[in-house]
Amino acid sequence: MPTLALPRSRILGTGHYLPSIVRTNADLAKMVDTSDEWITERTGIKERRIAPEGVVTSDMAAAAAREALAAAGLDASQIDMIIVGTVTPDVPMPATAAFVQQKIGAGHCPAFDLSAACAGFVFGLSIADQFIATGQMKHVLVVGVELLSRVTDWTDRTTCVLFGDGAGAAVLGPAGPGRDGAKPRGVLSTSISTDGSLAPALRIPGGGSVAPTSHATVDQKLNFVHMKGQDVFKSAVKNLYSASANALERAGMTTADIDWVCAHQANKRIIDQVVSRLEVPSEKVLMNIERVGNTSSASIPILLDQSLRAGKVHEGDTVLMCALGAGISWGSAIVRI
Ligand code: ACO
Repeated sequence: MPTLALPRSRILGTGHYLPSIVRTNADLAKMVDTSDEWITERTGIKERRIAPEGVVTSDMAAAAAREALAAAGLDASQIDMIIVGTVTPDVPMPATAAFVQQKIGAGHCPAFDLSAACAGFVFGLSIADQFIATGQMKHVLVVGVELLSRVTDWTDRTTCVLFGDGAGAAVLGPAGPGRDGAKPRGVLSTSISTDGSLAPALRIPGGGSVAPTSHATVDQKLNFVHMKGQDVFKSAVKNLYSASANALERAGMTTADIDWVCAHQANKRIIDQVVSRLEVPSEKVLMNIERVGNTSSASIPILLDQSLRAGKVHEGDTVLMCALGAGISWGSAIVRI
């Protein structure tokens, strides 16, 4: 019996926002016992952006969303769903997505947050794709946004050198029939996974039901990111490779069909090892970690938007996205722009 192919979703427009304050490795070397040499060699990061006081997560998300809407040629009132991937919400309740809805002037569409840490954008893309493919929604706004500087212990050199603030957004909609003879555009496949047994490797231990915020949790710095760096590193290399291989198989593709790899910018060494295992040449690997650091769920949409606006990635290019973060959660998507 022939299988009924569902319609595809595609990225109609992207946008990003980076706060203007630049914190360099030299700045960090004045704050903790570290050096530009150590940070560059171990991570590939030279500087990151920090949001000024008064700017909150939903402000950055809304700025990125407005750019994505303009690029898609849509008004906020045409958005049917808002998904915000973040682990640094404005407040624990309600969802940051609700504030984003208000700030961009969208209607009463469902708006919710998704907690998949650095994999948040890929998880969101996968969910948006399902709603559009089944015809339940037409236009879905997916935002990855993090204000990690507010949950970073700036006296802990093992974490504070890694993170930066920022937001990236994409508006997805039906792919439509496409041009005659052209390869189909859109989300060609996704693969998402979580291994909860690795949850202790990367977490903010306080502020939830386990350790509600108190003087003691603050004194013990439980409100900051705690990480077993090497465990995360090993999991990232293994799972980013397997998720990418999965997504390629689901799309009926090999790495030879990929024009660009747009990986989560966690650590240059992680990306180098994953693309080497995938046998993707370095000239096909998009990278901005040097200038923005690890912006968690915002990482992929920021890099994609910068690459599109710079004219590096074009319509018709096939992009492999892959990300891993706390959970441990990871995912990959193959998207033809
Ligand atoms: N400056 C100088 N020295 C440092 C610093 C620093 N900023 N941080 C750690 N060190 C020291 C350590 O104390 C240790 O010293 P010791 O040997 O005297 O004990 C030494 O450097 C080596 O430390 P390691 O932890 O073994 O260093 P490693 O090579 O593993 O690099 C890093 C650490 C960069 C955190 C790495 O493990 C990593 O990138 N892991 C992935 C984590 C990650 O990206 N997390 C982000 C969130 S999840 C994600 O986005 C994938």
